[in-house]
Amino acid sequence: MKISFAAPRMPRSGTVVCAAMEGRKLSPAGLQIDKDSGGALRRAMEASRFTGKSDETLMVLAPANLDVSRVLLVGVGTPRAGERSVRQNRGGIVLAALNAAGEQNAAFFVNAFKGKDTALAAADLAYGARLRSYRFDKYRTKEKPEHKPSLKELTFLVDGPKAAEREFEPLEKIAEAVFFTRDLVSEPANVIYPETLAQEAKKLASLGVEVEVLDEKQMKTLGMNMLLGVAQGSARPARLVVMQWKGNPRARNKAPVAFLGKGVTFDTGGISIKGAAGMEDMKWDMGGAGVVIGLMKALAGRKARVNAVGICGCVENMPSGTAQRPGDIVKSMSGQTVEVINTDAEGRLVLGDALWYCQDRFKPQFMINLATLTGAIIVALGHEQAGIFSNNDQLADRLIAAGKSVDEKLWRMPLGDGYDRMIDSDAADMKNIGGRDAGSITAAQFLQRFVNGLPWAHLDIAGTTWSKKDAPTVPKGATAFGVRLLDRFVADHCEGK
Ligand code: BES
Ligand code: MN
Ligand code: ZN
Repeated sequence: MKISFAAPRMPRSGTVVCAAMEGRKLSPAGLQIDKDSGGALRRAMEASRFTGKSDETLMVLAPANLDVSRVLLVGVGTPRAGERSVRQNRGGIVLAALNAAGEQNAAFFVNAFKGKDTALAAADLAYGARLRSYRFDKYRTKEKPEHKPSLKELTFLVDGPKAAEREFEPLEKIAEAVFFTRDLVSEPANVIYPETLAQEAKKLASLGVEVEVLDEKQMKTLGMNMLLGVAQGSARPARLVVMQWKGNPRARNKAPVAFLGKGVTFDTGGISIKGAAGMEDMKWDMGGAGVVIGLMKALAGRKARVNAVGICGCVENMPSGTAQRPGDIVKSMSGQTVEVINTDAEGRLVLGDALWYCQDRFKPQFMINLATLTGAIIVALGHEQAGIFSNNDQLADRLIAAGKSVDEKLWRMPLGDGYDRMIDSDAADMKNIGGRDAGSITAAQFLQRFVNGLPWAHLDIAGTTWSKKDAPTVPKGATAFGVRLLDRFVADHCEGK
């Protein structure tokens, strides 16, 4: 789908989109169209339940005396300064309505607000439409054309289209990164496994990201036995992906910021094997890694003035004759020993070594990790919000605020000594599960044992990485939850002038 911006002018074909406020009050463009069509819009509104409440839509077909084949009214409620995510959502809703109608070509009259940034409003509408337009359909060879999305061209009609284009540029880069993450997460595990995930990350080199891939021999030398223990049951060898975006050369000597992702390309549970029902979902157990790779793409794509490190621990968790057994004791890179009570609690084993490696090598300002870590976080928060665990209130508050502003919400969960004691082991320094209670918290406590005093935050995204229903800017499937959030966080707090 092509998105463009142009000066306001009544289109001659396709669908024209315009806003109506609460109380069926048409925008200036809407009033003109209503007049030209002899009151078709007004009559359509009166014949329907459409009142102009935010994000209601009304499709008016074949209005008299107009060249266009339809007019799509979209409710904007009582427009205030408005949050950006509200307009982005509106863009997504309009996109979905146009595709549902089978339209190929549409133009959207963006309202001019006195004293408001109309260019930004147009860019946000376009961004939301772009985000909603994502589809993972490469393996569908028999889909009927009438079931495919129809929209080919969407034009935003706005005073000062050049300014809108400029606002849209970085947003388009973020959308490309979101799509990259959604692709990686959607791919099945016979396509994306540690080596191929690392190859995908290597593609970021074309944007100026330095990408290194450590193999098992190198990880063995570093002492990452905790990560390697998870991988040892699989025919697919593990990889550690290390990405560096050096976008702020002036801060060359300052510590970078660091992001880490769980990249379990398939999680069978290992010897502590999962049930068959729903196991296919575990192809997206590399969601954290997918977000970190997408984030690096976003930062590089929009040339963010930040020095950022992205690290992904990539393994496949399989049962086999070489697999790790329950009760095995492994020595992590940190020197701490771990009794592996349950081989299905593997994400923490992978991330523990990755966190240690990260702070050992890069001495970052802080570390933020993302992981589809526990089913327990879904029990606690469902699919609405991700859990955030942190040893640092400022870092947590900033991440929560960034999440609010992009509509990727985080809910803070507790850490504490009492929870920490639940993973003490009689046989080793710790065990990898704490029992049934507080499952997402004991998992976070485990990770914290591999953080050496740095500010750190852990986002448990098990409930938000995959969605079973469409949302305004997120079609069902892989969400890329975290890419927009962390890009916003970096933009707000980590970039130099
Ligand atoms: N990858 C899973 C967590 C998960 C579950 C993600 C459902 C997305 C949806 C993780 O590796 C896991 O298996 N966790 C176990 C931990 C348990 C063995 C302590 C869990 O949550 O059941
Ligand atoms: Mn598991
Ligand atoms: Zn897992």
